[in-house]
Amino acid sequence: MRQVIAGNWKMNGLTADAQALAQALRAGVEHAPTQAEVLVFPPYTQIATVARILAGSGVGWGGQDCHMAENGPHTGDISPDMLRDLGATHVILGHSERRRDHNELDETVREKTVEALRAGLIPIVCVGESEEQRAGSQQEDTVGWQIKGSLPDGFGGADGSGGLVAYEPVWAIGTGRVATVEDIAAMHAFVRGELVRQMGETAGRGIRILYGGSVNAANAASVLAVPEVAGALVGGASLKATDFLTIIAATTGLPAA
Ligand code: 13P
Repeated sequence: MRQVIAGNWKMNGLTADAQALAQALRAGVEHAPTQAEVLVFPPYTQIATVARILAGSGVGWGGQDCHMAENGPHTGDISPDMLRDLGATHVILGHSERRRDHNELDETVREKTVEALRAGLIPIVCVGESEEQRAGSQQEDTVGWQIKGSLPDGFGGADGSGGLVAYEPVWAIGTGRVATVEDIAAMHAFVRGELVRQMGETAGRGIRILYGGSVNAANAASVLAVPEVAGALVGGASLKATDFLTIIAATTGLPAA
């Protein structure tokens, strides 16, 4: 399966910024075609703009979150069907910033994941320990519980196309402190083991595991070469087209076994 390079724009970008970024991205992938699966996650307000620019480019797009209901009285929320309506293929769920800013629990993330799958979106479910949890050697317990609580039955599907997991240690997000390749290798191996234990051999082995947390143009090649790293979820560096294109170019094609 192809490596995935996903750009999470978070709460950044007015129309002119989103247009410029999407246009530069389109020009970049047309100039240097890639084996990687490339996705961007603009803020809701820019998805339609980005979709118009990226349509037919091979670069896909998705939402940074969605509600767990199909529609109804949920002021300010967005349903998975609304994302599908804009051509989105993926949705990020359970990002640590959602867990922090909106008190999202594993149960919430699981309900959203169920609804996203029902609507035909591919969820990218985020897990990862805080700085305190790592300091207390709680990273495996934390991530193991998050996987157990956040992923519904059937996640990942038979061929892995029904969901991805992103391991994003909270202390590495937006801090410039990328995890070491040894830490990444250890946690990805742990996540793989948990997925196999909880989802069974076939589904558990097929789910792609992305790394996120201060991935940038300089460190992407070493991160993407780590065993079990099937791609990167990129925040800050995805806002600069040249950096994001450099990260795309750093993919090895297939994830290492
Ligand atoms: P940074 O790449 O800015 O550390 O953000 C990572 C992230 O949270 C992606 O979802």
